[in-house]
Order: sequence, then C-alpha cells, then structure tokens
Amino acid sequence: MTGRTVLITGGAGFIGSRLAADLAADGDDVVLLDVLHPQVHAGGWPALPADITAIPFDVTVPTMWDAVLRSVRPDVVVHLAAETGTGQSLTEASRHTRVNVVGTSELLDGLHRAGHVPDRFVLASSRAVYGEGEWATPDGTRFAAAARDVRQLDRAEWDPSAPGDAGGGPAHPLAHAAATTQPRPSNVYAATKLAQEHVLHAWASAHGTPLSVLRLQNVYGPGQSLTNPYTGIVSLFGRLAREHRSIPVYEDGHITRDFVFVDDVVRALSAATRSTTEGTSTVDIGSGAPMTLLDLAALVAAQAGAPAPQVTGQYRLGDVRAAFADVSAAADALGYVPQVDPEHGIALLLAWMATQDAPTQDVPAQPQPLRVA
Ligand SMILES: NC(=O)c1ccc[n+]([C@@H]2O[C@H](COP(=O)([O-])OP(=O)(O)OC[C@H]3O[C@@H](n4cnc5c(N)ncnc54)[C@H](O)[C@@H]3O)[C@@H](O)[C@H]2O)c1
Repeated sequence: MTGRTVLITGGAGFIGSRLAADLAADGDDVVLLDVLHPQVHAGGWPALPADITAIPFDVTVPTMWDAVLRSVRPDVVVHLAAETGTGQSLTEASRHTRVNVVGTSELLDGLHRAGHVPDRFVLASSRAVYGEGEWATPDGTRFAAAARDVRQLDRAEWDPSAPGDAGGGPAHPLAHAAATTQPRPSNVYAATKLAQEHVLHAWASAHGTPLSVLRLQNVYGPGQSLTNPYTGIVSLFGRLAREHRSIPVYEDGHITRDFVFVDDVVRALSAATRSTTEGTSTVDIGSGAPMTLLDLAALVAAQAGAPAPQVTGQYRLGDVRAAFADVSAAADALGYVPQVDPEHGIALLLAWMATQDAPTQDVPAQPQPLRVA
C-alpha cells in the first residue's frame, strides 16, 4: 500500500478501468464511481481487480457525493466521468452540460460539504477544446481556423480557409500545444470539457490545490465500448473490417487525427497523480503524429483482411479537419513518451475484439451498494 486513496469518477469506463487496475497494482487504495451509462456499458461492470472499491454513482446527484465523502477522503481525485458524444452533443446539449459541467461542480460542492480538500485533481480534458486549431500558410503566417460551415462542406472545400490577410497557398495544420493554441470549441461536448477545466481551475486555485489537466487526443485500444455508436472511430473501423466490409471514409480521406493507445494515456494519467507541480498544469497527450483517416482505415483493413476502404465525400457537421498533439510539455511535466505505434496498437485492439465475440470468463468486481441519506 502507498497509503494514498485515489478516487476515480467514470472509473468503469474505457480509460478509467485500466487506470484503476494500474493504480491498484501500484498499491493505491482505489475507489471508483460510475453510473454505468447504458450507451457505454452493455455488459454491466467491467472486470476489475478484487481490491478496488466500485460504487454505482451519478456525479450529478449531491446526496450521493455526501454519502461517499462521509467515509472516503481521497488524496487524489481523477475526474473522468463524462458524456462523450461529440456529434451527439449538438442534439443533446443539456445532457452533456449537466453531466460534464454540473457533475464537476457537484463534486466540488460535495468536497466543500464534507470539509475535505484533496492534495491533487487530475482532469481528462480533450483536444476537442481547440476546435479547428491553428493553421499556417506556406510563408509561416499562423491563423486560427474558423469552424467549417455547412455551405463550405457542401462545396467539398475541406480545409479551413485562410483569412484574406494571411499569406497565399495551401495552409497546413499546426500541432496542438496548450501553451500557444487558443481553445475554440466547435461543438457542445468540447465547450463542456473546456468549462470543466475552468470550473476545476477556479476552485482548485482558490484552495491552493494543484490541478493537472491532460488534453487527450483520440484514444483507442482494448476495452473501448464496442456498443457506443457515438465514440471510438478506431473501434468502429475495426468492427467494419472484421465483418469484411469496406470502411467508408469521410470527406476526401484526409481528415487527420492523432491516435494514442490507451496504455500510453494511462501512463500519463498515472504520472499526473504523482506529479509535484503546483498550480494548474495543462498538457497535450497524443502519439505526437497526425494520421489520415484513409491511412488508418487502410491499416485496419489490411490487418483484418478486409477489402480496401472507400472515400465517400460525405461529412459530419462539427468534425474538425485536423488534430495532433505537441507532446513536449507532457514530456517535461510527466516524463511522457508514447510507446505504442499504430501497427502494434491496432493489432492489440483487433485481437481483443476477437475475444469479445465469445462469452467472457472474467468475473466483475462486486459494486458496493451506496446508502444515500
Ligand atoms: N476516449 C477518448 O478518445 C477521449 C479523448 C479525449 C478526452 N476523453 C475524456 O476521458 C474521459 C474518459 O473517457 P473514456 O474514453 O474512458 O469514456 P467512457 O465513456 O468509456 O468512460 C466514461 C465513464 O463515465 C461514466 N459516466 C457517464 N456519466 C456519468 C455520471 N453522470 N456519473 C458517473 N459516471 C458517469 C460512464 O458510465 C463511463 O463509464 C472522459 O472525460 C472523456 O471526455 C476521452
């Protein structure tokens, strides 16, 4: 035992359940809270080590916070619970705002009522906060790309356009770096993730509590929900390829993302729980390299023995054109070095997906009943 108690909200999720197992293996006392969102958890609680305390819990309910914080005094709070549907957030804005923003403030009010201030907060934020991010023209003129609207996309003008006063020629996207890239959320999910950062920062700085914000790029790997139709493009491509279907790829195939394997993200979050930085530190977590969706689809198809992908020219409103992380700040702050390359990561994902076809032998940890006063 390290003597630390780490509370993980959303701890039954894709990232949370792996982080929980890692921290418990390192000797932490791990308490995880999760509502088991039906969109994410078709099969109930995931398999968890027996020494983890798992509690059915809704972060938006104040009495639940009071019941838990009566007996659990966390040294570190890792806040992962969230509604995560990017496109869905444009049609279910209140649900995303209630869970992501009000759920965060209920955590803080619960801590206040319990008279407890943790030693550190860790927040999983998102690269979505950057919106289209920053681009540069060939002569080096940087500009903040405006969100692409439906008329531009209908004309198949995929790249954000440079403003009139920027240098000419085709522009290229720049890496997301928290220190220099201004957040400009272009969907409601992204706005709620930025709001979480602000709400936690305001409370934590007033209490002198350090806060580590990790803006995650596109995380993939074993354990990501295979039933949630709103998140996880690598899993979606994997499902199609395993059915030997040709993967449809939107726009001209050249949307880029930074795909980061879940174990790399868990290493970064785990390091953040042990960080000694003061104040608020915000870093970007990814593989550090952009990949086009067409290249991703081709890689998944090749590994699964599926036909070649097809570029469809369709688009999804609210999607950004390009995203990738500058991981140098995370290297400095957390010693973060991504270790899993896409070929290996996709092989691990496909191998895990194959095991999900058969009934699992894993025995889920027994969630603890919560007594609400
Ligand atoms: N996976 C990614 O690519 C990615 C990228 C950027 C940021 N993030 C962030 O990382 C965090 C974890 O994401 P994930 O990929 O593990 O998603 P996930 O959906 O697997 O996990 C989120 C968990 O939160 C739980 N939850 C939802 N509403 C809740 C509520 N009201 N009360 C308690 N629990 C609730 C869900 O049941 C789920 O287990 C999220 O905050 C997400 O915004 C993820």
